[in-house]
Amino acid sequence: MKYYDFPELYDLFYSDAFEEECLNFYKVIFAKKKFQEVLDCSVGTGKMLLPMAKLGYSCTGSDINQNMIRQAKINFAKENMIGQFILSDYNELSKNIKRNFDCVMCTGNSLAHAKNEQLENVISQMDKMLRPGGTLYIDSRNWDNILKRKQRFYLFNPVVRDKGRVNYVQVWDYNKNGSIIFNYLIFEELDNKIVSKRQFYEFYYPFSIETLKQIIEKLNYQNIKVTKLGDSNSIDLEQIDWYALTAEKPIEGIGLGSKLHT
Ligand SMILES: C[S@@+](CC[C@H](N)C(=O)[O-])C[C@H]1O[C@@H](n2cnc3c(N)ncnc32)[C@H](O)[C@@H]1O
Repeated sequence: MKYYDFPELYDLFYSDAFEEECLNFYKVIFAKKKFQEVLDCSVGTGKMLLPMAKLGYSCTGSDINQNMIRQAKINFAKENMIGQFILSDYNELSKNIKRNFDCVMCTGNSLAHAKNEQLENVISQMDKMLRPGGTLYIDSRNWDNILKRKQRFYLFNPVVRDKGRVNYVQVWDYNKNGSIIFNYLIFEELDNKIVSKRQFYEFYYPFSIETLKQIIEKLNYQNIKVTKLGDSNSIDLEQIDWYALTAEKPIEGIGLGSKLHT
């Protein structure tokens, strides 16, 4: 079973503390930017876009999964936040969304759901959504480090719910073709006994930070910054498991075209 078809389960393991951390991080990294309209093209249940709404930005979220979008609407409404939501593959943003934004985000380690050969197209689609001078934001696990270590088991703190607990383990399978399957094992307990065992999966296609930067540089973006997600002072990639990249789209006339004429 695909994990993203169960957004309520997905949300169970999102903490308020993480949302708060995102809000504080965005506050710092976007402090000097004067923008208003934001698109998150892999919005999921909206947990990483909600902090942007709370910071006063006008938020739109798109995602390929209808169930996730439905949950994002619920999550925004619960917090009395306004958001617009659109069903769209991030490979086809320009076909499905007919307007531009000041900031285009791909949040929550979602870019690696694109196969390596699609990466350039996804970035170019994000670019098409972005106004000149706008900000591109991508956060991702640091696949370079992951492929060096090949850790397989990731244990998470159980969530206490009703009279029981929900235990959550991820087991990653490294495939010969370079893809990674995240297996999500979920055990529900009641009165100290396991009452259900469920298994879900999603595919990821790791890419190196260098490849991502090269694609963005090819589009002539400026001021490309990569820091730890949640800590803009931490920049040593060897130590970073999950990074956030920001870059600025050139304003018209300062891009590749003008360089060719000088
Ligand atoms: C790990 S979740 C992250 C969701 C959300 N950004 C968050 O931080 O919780 C990955 C999301 O990417 C979405 N996704 C996967 N492939 C996609 C595609 N081709 N186009 C748009 N969204 C996609 C999934 O449906 C899922 O909601």
